[in-house]
Amino acid sequence: MFNHGLLERHSLLLVVCVLIVVSIGGIVEIAPLFYLESTIEKVQGMRPYTPLEIKGREIYIREGCYLCHSQMIRPLRDEVERYGHYSLAAESIYDHPFQWGSKRTGPDLARVGGKYSDEWHRAHLVDPRSVVPESVMPPYKFLEQTELRIDDIEDTLKSNRVVGVPYSEDMIKNAKADLIAQATPDADGLSAFQGRYKKAEARDFDGDPAKITEMDALIAYMQMLGTLVDFKTYQADAPENRR
Ligand code: HEC
Repeated sequence: MFNHGLLERHSLLLVVCVLIVVSIGGIVEIAPLFYLESTIEKVQGMRPYTPLEIKGREIYIREGCYLCHSQMIRPLRDEVERYGHYSLAAESIYDHPFQWGSKRTGPDLARVGGKYSDEWHRAHLVDPRSVVPESVMPPYKFLEQTELRIDDIEDTLKSNRVVGVPYSEDMIKNAKADLIAQATPDADGLSAFQGRYKKAEARDFDGDPAKITEMDALIAYMQMLGTLVDFKTYQADAPENRR
């Protein structure tokens, strides 16, 4: 018979044994989720970020936008009425790291894509108070003056591939050309680029066709957020929504 008195008189031993018992339960509950297909159901429309969008995403992280903005619409009525369809797990499938956030000094940005024009974003990022007088958001004027660093874009895609984003050899080989094609109207590589990335919008996002700036990248990223899944046709349980 196990000496129960020993356990009851030694708090440290009790804590260790409790931890062991609880972690067995935790492992049994949580570990299978990493392997089950159904944890993150695949949804039609999702594709990896284009090179320009992923650069914009890096700027979003670098500038700490996530400190004031979340990117996750919760399945609650007030949220859905304000921001649109609640976020699906699959919509973050290519996010490394995810940008769900937990602080909303500003609004949620999970579906901000297409809500405003490029000009609005430009004016807002250069001087938020020029378009929203009561805004407390800081200005980011330097973005439109800073040329985008693109020499490392292939490595960015490759490192994303290591953590599971399905960038093909073709996408990596053409990363630089694709980035330029998306930010330059009427570029040569446009149709090849759009063949590689479905529903990717290409134009001069920052209004300065002479150079590709950090503003181009950040606005390209803002404008695609939450636009990949078509919620007019999306039904949570419909088999055609699974790839
Ligand atoms: C100090 C907190 C703060 C930071 C940091 C911040 N924002 Fe904001 N943001 C706000 C607030 C507050 C608003 C609402 C008022 C407004 O529209 O300016 C807002 C609004 C926005 C909107 C409009 C959303 C909508 O649906 O109307 C966008 C887009 C946006 N921010 C993008 C960004 C980006 C990109 C960054 C990083 C470069 C950033 N924000 C950093 C506070 C912040």
